[in-house]
Amino acid sequence: MIDYNLRMKNLAVILAAGSGERLRGSLPKQFLEIAGRSLLEICLERFRDHNGIDGILLVAPVDRLAMAEKVVAAGPFPKVIKVLPGGRTRQESSAIGIAAAPEEVENVLVHDAARALVPAEVITRVLEALAYSQAVMPVLPVSDTTVRVDAAGAAIAVLDRARLRRVQTPQGFKLEIIRQAHARAHAEGCSDAGDDCSLVLRFALAPVATVAGDPSNIKITYPQDLQIAEAILGGNR
Ligand code: CTP
Ligand code: MG
Repeated sequence: MIDYNLRMKNLAVILAAGSGERLRGSLPKQFLEIAGRSLLEICLERFRDHNGIDGILLVAPVDRLAMAEKVVAAGPFPKVIKVLPGGRTRQESSAIGIAAAPEEVENVLVHDAARALVPAEVITRVLEALAYSQAVMPVLPVSDTTVRVDAAGAAIAVLDRARLRRVQTPQGFKLEIIRQAHARAHAEGCSDAGDDCSLVLRFALAPVATVAGDPSNIKITYPQDLQIAEAILGGNR
């Protein structure tokens, strides 16, 4: 069960400080619109409208802070505690958000704004798993045959799909664990982790639980993903 009573028990850190190079838009992808609304607005809505989320820290590009603040003011998104200037890598942006978490926070959900369509059920599953785990990631099964290749690109082994998962966000953590993970990463000069659970795994800080992700929770990365996102949104997600 999710405890809705404590004031700032569950905090979402929304990472929106990337530049969206692979999407090649006129603006970083979080500011692009689908169906007349920016991805950032859609993403913030998902967390604002979830009863289990008490507060939101938004990490935005250093050179577009005002643009992000405008989205927050227009929402309005009263759960947003602060808009913070991000770092050069996703990991740095995540560390900046986590460092700004109020002390009373127990659980932190780190989410990519690029997964703007995250369904409420995924947020709920991550929060529920934090009642019995210190770190949790939403995952999907792998349906394609998956192989390992050599440096030249030739397939050298077929992997056991039954033991493979594709990882999504939001990833959930006890505040103390994710703080430790980022402190270790900083101390060891590692700054390019693609997600936060991978730091917990790298330093073996805690077991990482998995819960079911959702196929509609896509990471908008390439231009064609915008059309897919629009179709998902049109399908009433
Ligand atoms: N992100 C961030 N700070 C960075 C880099 C990325 O907060 N320095 C965020 C992005 O805004 C995104 C999430 O991390 O919500 C996942 O990153 P990705 O999909 O790679 O987004 P971008 O880095 O913006 O895209 P690209 O890699 O194509 O430039
Ligand atoms: Mg990136």
